[in-house]
Amino acid sequence: MDLQNLVLITALIVSTFTFSSPLDEKHSISVLGDPGMRRDGLRVAFEAWNFCNEVGTEAPLMGSPRAADCFDLTNSSLNHKVSESDNKLGVGKPFQGLNPSALNNADLYAVEKELYLGSLCEVREAQNPWHFWMVMLKNGNYDTTSSLCPENGKKVGPFKPGRFPCFGNGCMNQPSFYNERTSFVGSGGRMRGGFNGSYDLGSDVGGSYFEVIWEKNVGVGSWVFNHKLKTSKKYPWLMLYLRADATKGFSGGYHYDTRGMLKILPESPNFKVRLSLNVKQGGGPKSQFYLIDIGSCWKNNGAPCDGDVLTDITRYSEMIINPETPAWCSPTSLVSCPPYHVTPNNTKIYRNDTANFPYGAYHYYCAPGNAKYLESPVSICDPYSNPQGQELMQLLPHPIWAEYGYPTKQGQGWVGDPRTWELDVGGLSSRLYFYQDPGTPPAKRVWTSIDVGTEIFVSDKDEVAEWTLSDFDVILTNPVAS
Ligand SMILES: *[C@@H]1O[C@H](CO)[C@@H](O)[C@H](O)[C@H]1NC(C)=O
Ligand SMILES: *[C@@H]1O[C@H](CO)[C@@H](O)[C@H](O)[C@H]1NC(C)=O
Ligand SMILES: *[C@@H]1O[C@H](CO)[C@@H](O)[C@H](O)[C@H]1NC(C)=O
Ligand SMILES: *[C@@H]1O[C@H](CO)[C@@H](O)[C@H](O)[C@H]1NC(C)=O
Repeated sequence: MDLQNLVLITALIVSTFTFSSPLDEKHSISVLGDPGMRRDGLRVAFEAWNFCNEVGTEAPLMGSPRAADCFDLTNSSLNHKVSESDNKLGVGKPFQGLNPSALNNADLYAVEKELYLGSLCEVREAQNPWHFWMVMLKNGNYDTTSSLCPENGKKVGPFKPGRFPCFGNGCMNQPSFYNERTSFVGSGGRMRGGFNGSYDLGSDVGGSYFEVIWEKNVGVGSWVFNHKLKTSKKYPWLMLYLRADATKGFSGGYHYDTRGMLKILPESPNFKVRLSLNVKQGGGPKSQFYLIDIGSCWKNNGAPCDGDVLTDITRYSEMIINPETPAWCSPTSLVSCPPYHVTPNNTKIYRNDTANFPYGAYHYYCAPGNAKYLESPVSICDPYSNPQGQELMQLLPHPIWAEYGYPTKQGQGWVGDPRTWELDVGGLSSRLYFYQDPGTPPAKRVWTSIDVGTEIFVSDKDEVAEWTLSDFDVILTNPVAS
């Protein structure tokens, strides 16, 4: 069967198949450029970050660690938007629109390269142009003698090693990177492409590894993104996520303009996330696999972020589904718990209410380092691993989350239990505690990044995680209808 016939037949199948789901009502609308990852003409990009979400130094011959694989499917052929030389662009090489002041600065250059790749990949819809899914890779090594990372956004000098993994000079390097451009494989109308590489440059065989391979049959279903991440002795702390980031403004963890997939920004409580996840290998006991991680930014007085790293605070909430992850929060360790829990009927339960507080639902809470009115005991978030201060709310599967469609038992959604989830992320995130200065108007909880993936947090041995993600969608729900 040739491709054109296949496209025709599958188009017929698709058109006679009525999709039904509780969310698929006329009251719901996707905020993504590519709802459910179904668009044949894929848009996917890559970014690699050092410990504080910058570049630092590019890897030799790899260019700036920003790349994209974007194409339209026209008359059964893939019409690529990004050339190999675009992907290889690195400091010192000008491109259209580049601000000259960024030409020789690896951090600024990467920011502008992302905007440039976005312009090549942009899908121009009347109201809301959009760009790509973002594959994000991060190396948790920090060379504390480098003073590369600020402390809660403030530039600081070097300090003694020991607190963070680092094998020595060069431990914060960027990875090798290879893009197997999407193409047809076989004769059945199947498309396939991928990104891969390693932090171990040169001849270190059996070192760290990352890979994301996407595959789809023309006209049918969703792209399936298969991810692999391997740590090594030199790179024991690695993160790999697939993100839906904002198409403009500051996405979670950035302090600069980004490009992405969220053409409308979802706001708590009125949105849900649907996705299919198949975790094939967990990545060991330290693998903090996030069934969903949401990121935003607001100031401690509730005002939206404006790029001032001294007062902007990145806010993350994530549910960790690795059943080996314990609840650090407990009646005897209130320091790891948020001050209170809010039930679906909006009842506040304080963490000292040992009869009622759902300790097992919280892995760890930490507060922004520059918050002035914290309730003790409190744990302060790591001040170095973001360009600005951060606040983290880490959840675990627990019966208390049933109302929102989240995992209610350890092991749900984990290896051997592939599922399609419909998560009331908006509802849940509207009732989480986040720090604010007393008496200030509550921040609008507008989420600029929604992602899935794992953070293998300082593994003792080489670990491998592998998972597939498909059908990803973010849907606005009508508050009246839901
Ligand atoms: C696609 O094919 C049609 C019919 O053969 C042709 O008219 C059209 O120009 C083609 N479009 C492109 C972009 O090649
Ligand atoms: C990435 O994939 C290519 C093509 O399959 C392969 O040749 C290369 O060795 C891979 N890179 C790494 C670092 O394994
Ligand atoms: C709220 O729910 C809790 C249990 O989840 C229940 O004990 C309490 O009575 C409810 N409060 C109201 C006002 O409905
Ligand atoms: C529990 O914590 C709340 C809020 O911090 C406080 O008002 C209350 O007095 C505490 N109760 C007990 C019994 O310590």
